[in-house]
Amino acid sequence: MAYPQPGFRSIVITGASSGIGAALAKFYARPGVTLGLTGRDAARLAAVAAEARAAGALVQEGVFDLRDQAALVGFLHGFDAGDPIDLLIANAGVLDGRRADGTLEDGAIARRVIEINLLGATDTLHAILPAMRRRQRGHIVLVSSLAGIAAVTDAPAYSASKAGLLSYGRALREALIGERVRISVVCPGYVGSAMTETHIGNQPHKISADAAARLIGAGIARNKAVIGFPLHLYWLSLLSPLFPAAITRLATKDIRFHVQPRG
Ligand SMILES: NC(=O)c1ccc[n+]([C@@H]2O[C@H](COP(=O)([O-])OP(=O)(O)OC[C@H]3O[C@@H](n4cnc5c(N)ncnc54)[C@H](OP(=O)(O)O)[C@@H]3O)[C@@H](O)[C@H]2O)c1
Repeated sequence: MAYPQPGFRSIVITGASSGIGAALAKFYARPGVTLGLTGRDAARLAAVAAEARAAGALVQEGVFDLRDQAALVGFLHGFDAGDPIDLLIANAGVLDGRRADGTLEDGAIARRVIEINLLGATDTLHAILPAMRRRQRGHIVLVSSLAGIAAVTDAPAYSASKAGLLSYGRALREALIGERVRISVVCPGYVGSAMTETHIGNQPHKISADAAARLIGAGIARNKAVIGFPLHLYWLSLLSPLFPAAITRLATKDIRFHVQPRG
């Protein structure tokens, strides 16, 4: 889908070394654009950066774990000082949950997932929000999930982290009404990526990371509050709290899964 893009010139994408983040880097890479791309895996991030440079973008790479707040804030402030960020996409995230032997996540896993997915994203946002508010310009995008709308049984912390992020983004968007700083939240369904390779189970209506990037780009261009897709699953997720638990259990029995972490 082609949608006219606002003239973003300085874009930061976290979690750009893989999947949706890498596809977003490719989507936005063009001459006149400076990209800040972050991830933990230096080699995969370098490959994404090389592709973006080949498309004409200038690229700065940031290799760090975003739970290292000093590294995260240092990279974002340094990048913003050189190229004031007009689009910040907090996309980095992890999936964990039920394992192959049926065990549920423990407290350590729950903490790690929430630290990365929720606190990592709010730390990313707050490193740049004050500068955007001073400039009265900028768009911040938080990548949540349909699991943040309709909690998934096999990944409680993942669902909670994404629900928290959705709630945070919606509240902040309203709090900033009247200012020229925009907030959007993305709620994807299944998207082909390294993450979905660790998700062992059915993944109905899965789309490619490139298709997801185009939908996200179109939603950002339209300044949508929530960019949810695929549309029918988004609406089903929104309606799901109205269904009795027994109906939900029956309807979701074919999409139960376990997580096989990368070796
Ligand atoms: N794929 C789906 O079906 C789906 C559906 C809904 C929502 N989402 C959300 O979309 C986002 C992107 O996921 P994806 O599917 O593209 O997964 P992915 O291919 O596994 O990519 C995740 C990215 O996040 C980075 N990351 C993870 N933990 C990090 C940490 N502690 N510090 C710094 N970077 C970290 C990874 O970096 P390294 O690889 O370099 O470690 C990688 O670049 C996530 O927030 C995910 O929850 C995905």
